Amino acid sequence: MALPPSTRYTPPTGQGDSRPKSTPAASSFRSVDVAKTLSTLSTVTTPGREFEFTGADFDRIRKLLYEHAGIALSPAKQDMVYSRLARRLRVCGDKTFTQYLQRLERDHGEWETFINSLTTNLTSFFRESHHFDILAAQLKQIREKRQIKIWCCAASTGEEPYSLAITACEAFSSLGPPVQIIASDIDTAVLAYGEQGRYRRDRVERMQPAYLGRYFTHNAEDDSYSVRAELRRLITFRRINLLSPTWAVQGPFDAIFCRNVMIYFDKPTQRAVLKRFAPLLRADGRLYAGHSESFLHASDLLRSLGRTVYVRLDSPLR
Ligand SMILES: C[S@@+](CC[C@H](N)C(=O)[O-])C[C@H]1O[C@@H](n2cnc3c(N)ncnc32)[C@H](O)[C@@H]1O
Repeated sequence: MALPPSTRYTPPTGQGDSRPKSTPAASSFRSVDVAKTLSTLSTVTTPGREFEFTGADFDRIRKLLYEHAGIALSPAKQDMVYSRLARRLRVCGDKTFTQYLQRLERDHGEWETFINSLTTNLTSFFRESHHFDILAAQLKQIREKRQIKIWCCAASTGEEPYSLAITACEAFSSLGPPVQIIASDIDTAVLAYGEQGRYRRDRVERMQPAYLGRYFTHNAEDDSYSVRAELRRLITFRRINLLSPTWAVQGPFDAIFCRNVMIYFDKPTQRAVLKRFAPLLRADGRLYAGHSESFLHASDLLRSLGRTVYVRLDSPLR
């Protein structure tokens, strides 16, 4: 995936954190109208800032991000938005955020970088590790000889799909398990990074040493680790926006990993996505969500098995 230098992804030094970005807002877009109005009224720019950034600019950015990516940004994220987009204004030569937003309107190509700049990509290998134990047990129970399909739909920089691939190799005691993993994300920069499968030491060192030895090779020149080709062959990376009316995937899936992305969406958006997940799951397939993502409001669409694992309503699983 060829990307211009401005959209290339460089992870920061902190373990597990993929960017100097803050945690997502818990509040929904609709519940913040008062604060939103206040931010619209505050058109005063912060002294000492390089670029003028008004409350109206911020509200416009929130609206665009919500409409295009489903991300409901809290009104408290004004500084975060400034710091993430300021670099882009510098590169584009814009003097104010208003100018940058005008550019966005006329230059369709800028959208990709705009969205990439505003996503939060926090992830790590074997994050919420109990899900990988549940998946391993699920894979071992499959008796039929067939291709097993997993969709990792907010794959970020690749740690999650590679953890899925390692889990599959371990479950089948093979570097060529009958497993096909689609790793998708809205952010093209993190996808390109994940596709390379090369991680700094601090990103991999919490993993079981046996996995590091079995599934990675060490690069002495920069002390990084590369994922083995056999593991990479199990995964296809592609851009998919969960808000798009069509998704370039074909079910049915044994597992959909949709973890720590729904927290950025409001409930109507979550429901719309879940409604489309249910028919993509096999009858015995599972949807894995993040630990703070409860879909109890969607109990007419999915049934909980506990530990933020869900199945179709007609699933035989209990
Ligand atoms: C916090 S990361 C979670 C990564 C991984 N699933 C995990 O749990 O470690 C959230 C990811 O969701 C992606 N994302 C946000 N909005 C999205 C959308 N509308 N469609 C697809 N991916 C989206 C972001 O780009 C980001 O990489």
